[in-house]
Amino acid sequence: MPFVRRVRMKKGMIATGCLGLLLTGARVFAQKEGDAAKGKDVFEQCTVCHNADSTETKMGPGLKGLFKRDKLKNGKKVNEANVLAVINAGGNGMPSYSDMLTDEEKKNLIAYLKTL
Ligand code: HEC
Repeated sequence: MPFVRRVRMKKGMIATGCLGLLLTGARVFAQKEGDAAKGKDVFEQCTVCHNADSTETKMGPGLKGLFKRDKLKNGKKVNEANVLAVINAGGNGMPSYSDMLTDEEKKNLIAYLKTL
C-alpha cells in the first residue's frame, strides 16, 4: 500500500534527523578545544606563504614553534587571541581571514598552529 510506505519513510526521516542533531550536538561539544587535524587541512591555504616545518621565511615567516616564541613580529605576546588577531587582520602582505574562515575553522587552525 503506497500510503503505508510513505508514512514509514517519514518516520525514518525523522529518526535520521534526530540522530543528525545528536551528532551535531556532540561534535560542537567536542569542538570546544579545536581540532588540530582539521586545522591542518585549513592550513593548506596558508602554506603558499608559510612553512609549517621550519622558521624559514617563504612569503611570510615560517611558523614552526610559533607558540613557543616570546613575541610575534608585531611585538605582541604569542597567545591565542593575538595570533587570531593576526589571522583576522592580515596586513603587510598577508590577506585578512576575518570573513574567509569560520570561527570553527579558526579555532581548529589555532589548535594546529600550537602543535608546530
Ligand atoms: C599571501 C601570503 C600569505 C598567506 C596566504 C598567509 N599569510 Fe600569514 N603572513 C604573511 C606575511 C607576509 C606575514 C608577515 C606580516 C608582517 O610582517 O607583519 C604573515 C604573518 C603571519 C603570522 C604572524 C607571524 C609572526 O611571527 O608574527 C601568522 C601567525 C600567520 N601569518 C598565519 C597565517 C595563517 C594561519 C594563514 C592561513 C589562514 C596565513 N598566515 C596566510 C603572508 C601570508
